[in-house]
Amino acid sequence: MSRNSRSLPETRLRSFDTSRNNVSSPAAGEFFRRDQSMLKAGVIGCGYWGPNIIRNLDALPGVELIYVADLNTEQLAKQKALYPYIKTTTNYLDIITDRAIDIVLIVTPVNTHYRFAKEALTNGKHVFVEKPLTDSVQTSKELCKLADSMNLTLMVGHTFVYTGAVRKMKEIIDSGELGTIRYITSQRLNLGLYQKDINVLWDLAPHDLSIADYLIGSQITKIKAYGHRDINPQLEDTAFLNLTYSTGEKVYIMNSWLYPEKVRKMAIVGTKGMMIYDDMEPEKKIKVFHKHVDFSKSEISYQYENGKEYFPELILKEALSVELSHFTDCVLNNKEPLSSGNKGLNVVKVLEESDLLLRRNQA
Ligand SMILES: NC(=O)c1ccc[n+]([C@@H]2O[C@H](COP(=O)([O-])OP(=O)(O)OC[C@H]3O[C@@H](n4cnc5c(N)ncnc54)[C@H](O)[C@@H]3O)[C@@H](O)[C@H]2O)c1
Repeated sequence: MSRNSRSLPETRLRSFDTSRNNVSSPAAGEFFRRDQSMLKAGVIGCGYWGPNIIRNLDALPGVELIYVADLNTEQLAKQKALYPYIKTTTNYLDIITDRAIDIVLIVTPVNTHYRFAKEALTNGKHVFVEKPLTDSVQTSKELCKLADSMNLTLMVGHTFVYTGAVRKMKEIIDSGELGTIRYITSQRLNLGLYQKDINVLWDLAPHDLSIADYLIGSQITKIKAYGHRDINPQLEDTAFLNLTYSTGEKVYIMNSWLYPEKVRKMAIVGTKGMMIYDDMEPEKKIKVFHKHVDFSKSEISYQYENGKEYFPELILKEALSVELSHFTDCVLNNKEPLSSGNKGLNVVKVLEESDLLLRRNQA
């Protein structure tokens, strides 16, 4: 049964259904002694990104940050100094097996996502896992199936679909203001941060792919990938993905860790108008252009339309706060997350296919 087809929302306590096998459940009635209004959270990983998750989680009403795990004791000490009431541990299993914990947030390197998420789900926890969901289609599928069979929420950190800018772009596209979308370009470039275990597409493209999926909403029918390895001979640091969608749109993605400036820019080109999204702009992130070109075959001539240009107003709330609030809402009300496990699986499918294409194109 799909989650959306359930008529009555269950509560987070659905994770403690004692009829389930292999679930570490509290003794009957134990949860009634706990504060019903608070979801108890554990975070695994507080390196670069984890502290942002922790800060937003701590500020979220209805969530009690209980536990943080990391192998690095210095990182743990920094978090303990900021949030003296949390428990810290170097053993992630302390969080996963703690019966007080309802939700587990995994903010560790990609090669750990599958194991940590699987163990957390098996122990009855709702799971938020940072992008990309896992490092293979097979393991991503397994997690989606497991979450579904356990009736637990599995959500992926596709952060950009929770930004005011991307939401506004979706609104503008859906309103028809730009006409039919012809193509989208997306550039995510910077000097570093070089990752040790994944190439630049696995690191950065989940953002471009999840935004494109949100904006277009149809299936990808064709993928092309090119890339090169300029620094580490094992991993592409600059790569290009060309995608064709079943509804005709083309998406061109460029990702690089070897670029002089930080660029986070998208262009959306439609039959009636165009739009630029520059995430490096502090406020005026989106510019809409009522510009288009018409072509007359009989006269072989082009007509250029230059209409108004404007910056739509955006809700500039921190995306992580919106994202984590959505996660807890999904947990409490048994809703399908916008960036569900299945959305994460779709991204991993493209990344896995791109690995094959990159290898083929290198030969
Ligand atoms: N959504 C976003 O915008 C965004 C941005 C950056 C990173 N991320 C994602 O966040 C995740 C972490 O990235 P990062 O840049 O913070 O990496 P990082 O290497 O800086 O931090 C990872 C942390 O995990 C810890 N760790 C590793 N193995 C562990 C284990 N077995 N038990 C406990 N802790 C362990 C490490 O000690 C480290 O502190 C990745 O999946 C990445 O793709 C998402």
